[in-house]
Amino acid sequence: MQYSIPKGVFDILPDEPLEEDFWRQSDHWQYIEEVMRQTAGDYGFKEIRTPIFERTELFVRGVGETSDIVSKEMYTFEDKAGRSMTLRPEGTASVIRAFVENHLHQKGSLHKFFYIGPMFRYERPQSGRYRQHHQFGAEALGVCSPEQDVELIDMVCEIYHRLGIQELTVHLNSVGDEASRTRYKEALQAYLKPHFEKLSDDSKERFSKNVLRILDSKSPQDQALLTSVPSILDHLSPEAKDHFKKVCSLLEKAKIPYLINPKLVRGLDYYNGTVFEITSGQLGAQNSVGGGGRYDGLVEAVGGPSIPGIGFATGMERILQTMTKQGVAFPPAPHPLIFFIPLGEAASAFCFELLCSLRHKKIAADMDLSGKKVQHGLQLANQYKADYCAIIGDQELATGHVQLKHMASREVETIALSEITTILRSKRHA
Ligand code: HAM
Repeated sequence: MQYSIPKGVFDILPDEPLEEDFWRQSDHWQYIEEVMRQTAGDYGFKEIRTPIFERTELFVRGVGETSDIVSKEMYTFEDKAGRSMTLRPEGTASVIRAFVENHLHQKGSLHKFFYIGPMFRYERPQSGRYRQHHQFGAEALGVCSPEQDVELIDMVCEIYHRLGIQELTVHLNSVGDEASRTRYKEALQAYLKPHFEKLSDDSKERFSKNVLRILDSKSPQDQALLTSVPSILDHLSPEAKDHFKKVCSLLEKAKIPYLINPKLVRGLDYYNGTVFEITSGQLGAQNSVGGGGRYDGLVEAVGGPSIPGIGFATGMERILQTMTKQGVAFPPAPHPLIFFIPLGEAASAFCFELLCSLRHKKIAADMDLSGKKVQHGLQLANQYKADYCAIIGDQELATGHVQLKHMASREVETIALSEITTILRSKRHA
């Protein structure tokens, strides 16, 4: 019996799969993760790792009952003791739970975390939308200044910049404080009420449960009704308006182009104030590469003190797909500097000892362990993309010299076996 992978998930593989699946190559993942870790470090964020599953209640309370994520998309199961558990659909709620539970708030007034890992959402699979996807996320807790908002937006843009991604658009909005939102919800309901019958079924349901989410609707019939919808920015309190203005002005100073999008509300219920999303023209319908916003009430909602927070998460699959579509160059995959092809038992024993010694000196080396013919070894050297290969038999052992072949240029040089470590070291740094 052969088993196939479940719908909506994928394998990340060491070698180039088909061209359209280039983004699934594991060394590309390692590369972008490295750039993200480095950037996060430069901005003063430290890694936090939380479990992949949590009590269901955390997400219901944290992400919000009316969000699509909680109401439709969670992977929820009962454990053997009958407790309801859920595979994390996003990272923020878990980070806040860990922050509160480990009393981290007692250790300072500003806390900056980042995380990388899989998230699980039972969505209809399509290009760019998976049931297990991966996020890099960052959360800053403790400061509610506009500078803090811009630090996060700048950091995610810097990650994209360091990765060489172009043509992204930063969408910006403010969903205000609670009083602003309440006023706006009333204005939105008043505007939509005469058109209620023309709304999509989903939006009819959202009308009383969470009217803001109608702004997010992809349905053309809803979109047609939303063309002259009142703007939330006209309903902000003076403080929220002032905060938003400062964020805009700081973004301009930081030379980060942005687009004000008053319909941007984001799909998670914890947001207040600044929200943002970064889109790529290359991704089709699922065009959001990253998004985030401020959530000043979440720490308290999860049982902690009143501490403001802001964060974002960016989808690793969507980053890699955008990079592939834009033809961004990835660094070469790790490969052996030298590949040995031994001929006969004595040479095999010699090569194996040499191989271990080179590896212990941090020189990437490999050899054909199969005992098969030269042709097989050469195929392997090509497959592993070795820089050099050396065929070693009785003659090489007797003379103490070997031909080192540069695989790409096919140039050959004869070197003393006793010198091989020094020579390879110099080639590694060349
Ligand atoms: P989100 O917008 O739901 O935000 O997800 C962040 C990013 O994850 C999206 O922009 C997208 O790139 C990627 N993503 C989401 N769902 C999928 C999927 N099914 N398949 C592939 N990629 C996907 C959050 O999760 C918030 N926790 C972000 C945040 C952090 N807000 C504040 N702090």
